[in-house]
Amino acid sequence: MSLTTFPGGSAAPSDSPFAKVTMPALSEMKRQGKPISALTAYDYATSRLVDEAGIDMILVGDSLAMVVMGLENTLAVTVDEMLHHTRAVRRGLRRALLVADMPFGSYHGTVAEGLANAVRFVKEAGAEAVKIEGPRVELVRALTGAEIPVVAHLGLTPQSVHRMGGYRVQARTAETVKQLIVDAQALADAGAGALVLEGVPREVAAAITAELAIPTIGIGAGPDCDGQILVFHDLVNLTFAPAAKFVRRYGDASALMREAVEHYREDVEHRAFPSDEESYHLPEAARKVLEAPETTAKLRKV
Ligand code: KIV
Repeated sequence: MSLTTFPGGSAAPSDSPFAKVTMPALSEMKRQGKPISALTAYDYATSRLVDEAGIDMILVGDSLAMVVMGLENTLAVTVDEMLHHTRAVRRGLRRALLVADMPFGSYHGTVAEGLANAVRFVKEAGAEAVKIEGPRVELVRALTGAEIPVVAHLGLTPQSVHRMGGYRVQARTAETVKQLIVDAQALADAGAGALVLEGVPREVAAAITAELAIPTIGIGAGPDCDGQILVFHDLVNLTFAPAAKFVRRYGDASALMREAVEHYREDVEHRAFPSDEESYHLPEAARKVLEAPETTAKLRKV
């Protein structure tokens, strides 16, 4: 199917609310001072909801390891699992920019290995950009050289959980702040199209945002970034854990779904579901034949 057949396809004028969001469009939003909204999604249904709500960027985050697969951290999710979810999200999305998170181990070896894995996300799952954690300047250069847009990710990088000794706010000393600024600039110079800043003081995120030409997308980085991203399950209370300080719950899907499921179970137990209206019925002619005394007698003998 051609994108031009989508109501929000590439045929729409670029200032239309339905215009497909691209990586250059994010930079343009920064230039125009328009905040960028981003959310994670991991399947077709949430992808459709998020896209239809007008979110600019959808990230198939490796956070799926935790919120979808129930793992303790993000380290175990594989490239094949990420590809599987990215393909599902791709099918639900029309307007938003689709970014796939490269999982731990898929770009920590040679640049050639990282490039080969990134190509899989574009070729096999339809990703329009990949996200990688840490100041991997050489890899960013190679990816952008191979026409793969990159979203870089600095600050609290969850794939470094063991090195960091837990999920802790980063860049809290003058030295680490300076290093973060240097890394951010180097990634932008290497061609990164956007930078996720996670778990850093507001002042630091504001300084980097002012410094860089590419947009910053914050999570736990304060309100001065060019955009914001949250994990979908945090937004709608589907995490079964207390929310972090930076999370705002915009809905309670957990309560809604629990109530629906409990109501259904009660109805089944009380034979209140399904009703006659929710049942299929025989056509009149077949019913008459089956209800005729001779058919009933025959059926009894069978
Ligand atoms: O995996 C993820 O969900 C992320 C974002 C929240 C930035 O990396």
